[in-house]
Parts: sequence; C-alpha cells; structure tokens
Amino acid sequence: MTLSTAAVNRDLRLSELFEILPEESGVTDEGVLTIGGVRVTDLAQQYGTPLHIMDEVGLRRQMRRFVDGLQSRWPNSEVLFASKSLPIVAAYAIAAAEGMSIDVAGGGELQLALAAGVDPQRIHLHGNAKSDAELTMALDAGIGAIIVDNFDEIARLEELVTQPLHVLVRVIPGVDARTHASQATGGNNSKFGLPIDQATEAIARLNAHPLITCDGIHLHIGSQILEAEPFGEAVAKVAPIGEFPVYDVGGGLGVRYTYAEQPATVDEYLDAIVRSAKAHLPADAKILIEPGRSTVARAGVTLYTVNTVKHTGKTFVAVDGGLADQLDIALTSQRYEAIVANKLNEPWSETAQLVGRQCESGDLLVEDAPLAETERGDLIVMPVTGAYAYTMSNNYNGALKPAVVFVSNGTSRLAVRRETYADLLETQQVAIDQDWTAVPN
Ligand SMILES: Cc1ncc(COP(=O)(O)O)c(C=O)c1O
Repeated sequence: MTLSTAAVNRDLRLSELFEILPEESGVTDEGVLTIGGVRVTDLAQQYGTPLHIMDEVGLRRQMRRFVDGLQSRWPNSEVLFASKSLPIVAAYAIAAAEGMSIDVAGGGELQLALAAGVDPQRIHLHGNAKSDAELTMALDAGIGAIIVDNFDEIARLEELVTQPLHVLVRVIPGVDARTHASQATGGNNSKFGLPIDQATEAIARLNAHPLITCDGIHLHIGSQILEAEPFGEAVAKVAPIGEFPVYDVGGGLGVRYTYAEQPATVDEYLDAIVRSAKAHLPADAKILIEPGRSTVARAGVTLYTVNTVKHTGKTFVAVDGGLADQLDIALTSQRYEAIVANKLNEPWSETAQLVGRQCESGDLLVEDAPLAETERGDLIVMPVTGAYAYTMSNNYNGALKPAVVFVSNGTSRLAVRRETYADLLETQQVAIDQDWTAVPN
C-alpha cells in the first residue's frame, strides 16, 4: 500500500510525538490522545482543566530503571526519589513501593513523605537554610540522614541532637555542568554546600560529637544536565576528600522536552557514575543517587482547554492555564512541545504562540508552536510536564492550583484535587473578618 504524503507526514509527526509523550500513550481512530488507556477528552470532562495527568505504569517502569539499573551495576546502592520534582503523596507512595528511598528538602516535603507512609529511615533531608523547627521535626521523626550544608547548621544540630544521628556533608565539587544558570549547583559559587577544604573540617567536627556520625559526602551538580560525563567527573573530583562508607551523587539527569534534545539515557548516566566510582571510590562504599526530573517528567502531561484563538500580529492560542502552573518555563526558558490532543489526525498546519492567561507577556508556553488548526474548546497537551510543574504551581492572578490525576489500564484516580475559590479565600478569612477602612488606633 502506498501512503499519501499527508499520511506519511502524519505518521512521522506521531512517531516523534510518542517518543516524548508518556510511555503508555495511544491515539484513537478519531485522533484523540489516550494516556494509560483513557481518552484525554474524558479526563477533561471528569476532572476539568488545567489538569496534570500522570501515566502510573510508565512512571513505575522508569523508577525501576533507576533502582534495578544501579543495583545491577553497584549492588551496595540506594536510589532516592528527589521529591521536589513532584511533591505529592501518591508519588511518594509509588516511589517507596518501587524500591526508592526519598529525599526531601524541607519540613513540608517531610510531612508529605511521612503522610504517604514512607519509612522514616528511608528519608534524607536537604536544604541550605533549614530552620530549627525543621531540624527538630527530622530528628523527632528519626529520619535516615540529614545532609548538612554549613557550619551554622552543625552548631544547631550539636545542640538539638538527643539520640544517634547519621549525616552526610554537602560538598561543592567544582563541576560546571552545562545547563541553565538557575539549575547549576556544582560550580564554585554555588549557594549549596561547602568547598572541599571546609567540608573536611565539617566532617571532623561532626564526628567529634558523641551522637553524630558522618557517613560520607553528598554532591549535586545541577539539573537538566543532558550529558553523562559531568556526573562521572563530579565523583572523581570529590574522591580525594577521603574514604567514606557513603557517597551521594545527587540528581540532575536531563530529559527530552523537545524532539530535538538527546539527553543521555538512564543506562549511560549510571554507566558514567559507576565507571568513575570503580576508578575512584572504595569498593565497599555505598552509592546513592537522587533522580527527580528524569523519574517523573515524561510520565506527566498537562491538559489545557483553549479559551481563545486570535490572529493579530501572530496567531495566539490562549489556554486556561499558564505560568501559574508552568512557572519552570518562565524561569528557565526551556522549550517544550505542545499538541492539539483531540485533533491528532489533522495536519499541523498552524504556527501559533501558545500562551497562558496570566498577565505577563512572559507567560508564553511555546513560541511558534506547530499545531493543528485550533479553535476555542480544543484540548492542548503539553508533554514532559511531570516534573516541577505541579511543584511550582501558584496562585498568580488568583489561579487555582490544578488537580493531579493518575491513569493506568483504562482507569483514572485523583491524587490531588483541584483548589477551589474557598481554598483561596480560607487563609485570608482573618482579613475578611476585619474592618480595613482605616489604620487601627
Ligand atoms: C540535592 C538535590 N538532589 C536531587 C535533585 C533533583 O534533581 P533533578 O530533578 O534534576 O534530578 C535536586 C534538584 O535540584 C537537588 O537539589
């Protein structure tokens, strides 16, 4: 059978599309995107939009790739889910069920992990400015380890600790991996961690405390790093600090947001770390990694409804969300793809500015997006938005934070309900109940 040019083009675009859509994606005969066997049109109807949709089967598979992949290369190892990338109870519970431990970066994430039923011993706490309340919360919960960032924190821990405590010290490895400036954390001017000479002093001081054991060191060179080599390089850089039972290499593996990007695979990433570990670290050391973005990004998409289409200087397709639910795009200028999810059978004939509804010109979701001809009421899907989108959602212009729904095998289950106007008003009820016409006497 010979295919028409249109059909060939359609198949080409669709095959590219399925490389960045969630693993369990499909398309109906009518051209409607399905995720986890559920039509996005049905999800829009049931849960409303904007909506974060997570492919549960694909997510679990990806978690296993990290856990089994590291285990097979370096058996004495542990994979921690960097929960900042998707801090919701369902993600904590699924990560724990798939063999991951959890890294939290504050009291709120710690509360969510505990609420999800994660064993406290499998939780690590990060942060460059932890409060006394957060340190106390972590100590009371009996978490597995605290990642110590600085000497002020050491002084406070020395006072607060009442029972044996395990810690790691965060080291600045001096590796400038190529990524967006806001996502680089491994260079010498990083606000996170201590340079190697100070880290050595910190380790000695911690170990001098009768209740504190420093098990080793932690590093994290940044996020959305597309190459594997910098991870191996970082291991080599910190090895001279000394021999320890534990080396935590952090997270940071990049993901494929657009058809054009080609990040290292999970296997290439693990190979780079383990190759360097075999060359530079003690053979009996334990290796920890903390993938966040690369665990959850591809499993998630965001679903929007088109509210307006207008043809002025350019064609503007405006959706019912924006930087209130995709702040990461405005922060990093990362390019994304977008599709008209109810028109996958139609040619992508339009080039449009896909914009949000928040009052900022910077609320541009995708510049010059190739889209099918779009009209009000169509559904837009932004692939690869499983990481950091929900995390950074906010109430700009009074936007309500979207719901999060997990789909698998033709069914859906709500993981986070949509915020309501009542939620929005609740924290300000104290103001509603007062008279603001004049300054109080
Ligand atoms: C200490 C630490 N570990 C892990 C991560 C996760 O990084 P990513 O989501 O890029 O894998 C971060 C993210 O900034 C981090 O700060």
